[in-house]
Amino acid sequence: MRSVIDFPNLPLGLLPTPLYRLEALSGSLDREIYIKRDDMTGVALGGNKVRKLEFLLADAQAQGADVVLTAGGPQSNHAMLTAACAARLGMKAILVLKKRGVLTGGNLILDDIFGAEVRFVDTDSYDDVYAEIHRLMDALRGEGRTPYFIPVGGSVPLGCLGYVNCAKEIAGQAEALGVTFDAIVSAAGSGGTYAGLTLGAKLFLPGTKSVGIGVCDDPFPEIALELMQKTAALLESDVPVSPEDIHIRYHIGPGYAQPSPEGNEAVRRLARLEGILVDPVYTGKALAGFFQLLEEGYFPGDGPILFVHTGGAGALFAVEMP
Ligand SMILES: Cc1ncc(COP(=O)(O)O)c(C=O)c1O
Repeated sequence: MRSVIDFPNLPLGLLPTPLYRLEALSGSLDREIYIKRDDMTGVALGGNKVRKLEFLLADAQAQGADVVLTAGGPQSNHAMLTAACAARLGMKAILVLKKRGVLTGGNLILDDIFGAEVRFVDTDSYDDVYAEIHRLMDALRGEGRTPYFIPVGGSVPLGCLGYVNCAKEIAGQAEALGVTFDAIVSAAGSGGTYAGLTLGAKLFLPGTKSVGIGVCDDPFPEIALELMQKTAALLESDVPVSPEDIHIRYHIGPGYAQPSPEGNEAVRRLARLEGILVDPVYTGKALAGFFQLLEEGYFPGDGPILFVHTGGAGALFAVEMP
């Protein structure tokens, strides 16, 4: 097996991120809850995509790219963090975004601050967004530029390596704290974070169940399985990956990128108990899904559980939270 550190990777993030016990929340839930602060990855407002971009942009640089193109919704945290990391590396970022949802404020302000070129496509389908990206890439090549394409969310095997590595980081921190987690819980949006963490848990956190909370209705069990298999192949790992490794629950509320009453309550609960901000459409919903599972008795025993905070604060300034 190859080690994740064998793959070129740029030190964009401030890693390791903190991992610690949430005293007040643990008290209120009568269960030991820990948090992994990947909202503190150190670029822009932080968030999970920095770990993926460390690998993806190293690949872009190795290919001599001077322009990076990616896709997302208008409030995409991934697109914003791609803009931030590209700016830091002196690369141009072109963000091709679906013209749906909240079209002003939030991450769109940050995209502009980071100097990205933002283009909208009036569509519900990423096929149309990708077609526009490939058209732009052809035009850029014609101008003598070298474009690099990152699919939505950076959820490709190379990006997943960032979260395999995060699981290794968690294993080291858990050992230092003397805890063994029963489970780790994370949000699933395009699937790469969950796939990387779940593969990483198999490799470095034996006995810890990796649970994903889907925030849109994509078929995450299949998406995660394929990404895990391809990432394991990239690592030349013979660790067996099977559907039994995958544990997905959903908290979608009224729809993707739209807040839910339970998610909003989770945002306020964590803020008021712990002084930590989660966002209303990814991490707040994942937290709401996690609280629901705790209530249902989904986690047997009384061992500690880790919630992975994947960032997203920009949405707090774009999305209404009734
Ligand atoms: C704040 C936040 N948390 C979680 C996710 C989910 O990560 P992934 O796309 O790797 O599933 C995303 C992106 O979709 C995000 O922006």
